[in-house]
Amino acid sequence: MHYSIAIDGPAGAGKSTIARSIAGQLGFIYVDTGAMYRAIALHFLRKGIDGHDTVSIEAECPHIKVSLDYDEAGGQQVLLNGENVTPFIRTEEVGNMASVTSAIPAVRAALLDLQRDMAKRSDVLMDGRDIGTHVLPDAFLKIYLTASSRVRAERRYKELKEKGLACHLEDIERDIILRDRQDMSREIAPLRQAEDAVLVDSSDMSIEEVIDTVVAEFNKKKQHTTIL
Ligand code: DC
Repeated sequence: MHYSIAIDGPAGAGKSTIARSIAGQLGFIYVDTGAMYRAIALHFLRKGIDGHDTVSIEAECPHIKVSLDYDEAGGQQVLLNGENVTPFIRTEEVGNMASVTSAIPAVRAALLDLQRDMAKRSDVLMDGRDIGTHVLPDAFLKIYLTASSRVRAERRYKELKEKGLACHLEDIERDIILRDRQDMSREIAPLRQAEDAVLVDSSDMSIEEVIDTVVAEFNKKKQHTTIL
């Protein structure tokens, strides 16, 4: 049996930073499912396909192969038809496109088996929007990680400023609220907290506090499961 930890939550809640660190501590494989949706979105952008053009997107899906590779330090690389696209997927443009195209059933179906297979083969820490509710409904531990839209916008603003990029806090918050709405209101596998997920609101927590909270939840559950 393999352990699986599902961490779901809205954009900018700090999922990937936290998930990467916890996976490292526990020796689990980290699966960033958002990166997979971003790789597919990059493909559509490169092809000039409109994110709302469902017909063209469905026709293109059989020609897209997303896979994951890991470097020696455990860092995840995302491959799009064999090309390592990791350096190109972290832009706002790709993120916004991913939010739109991930609502299309053919796009979700293209990734579901790959994600489930990974959890069958290894101990995984998988983060995304629908991991606890849909991809791994029997995950050993489910976390719903959130923070207020203001706090998430402030974190993103700081990151962009540190990179020397021009940005406005109000615009970033508006974008975050729009993305939340898109991710939560789509018909298929919308973002929501699974009934058996532990809610962690990181608005007033440091990264270390969140990591410690999740690791403590995992250890508590493991102990409890052994006793049973
Ligand atoms: O976590 P992220 O910002 O890298 O994700 C980009 C988009 O991909 C997000 O807006 C919604 C989509 N996504 C999804 O629909 N399901 C997932 N499990 C992960 C991401």
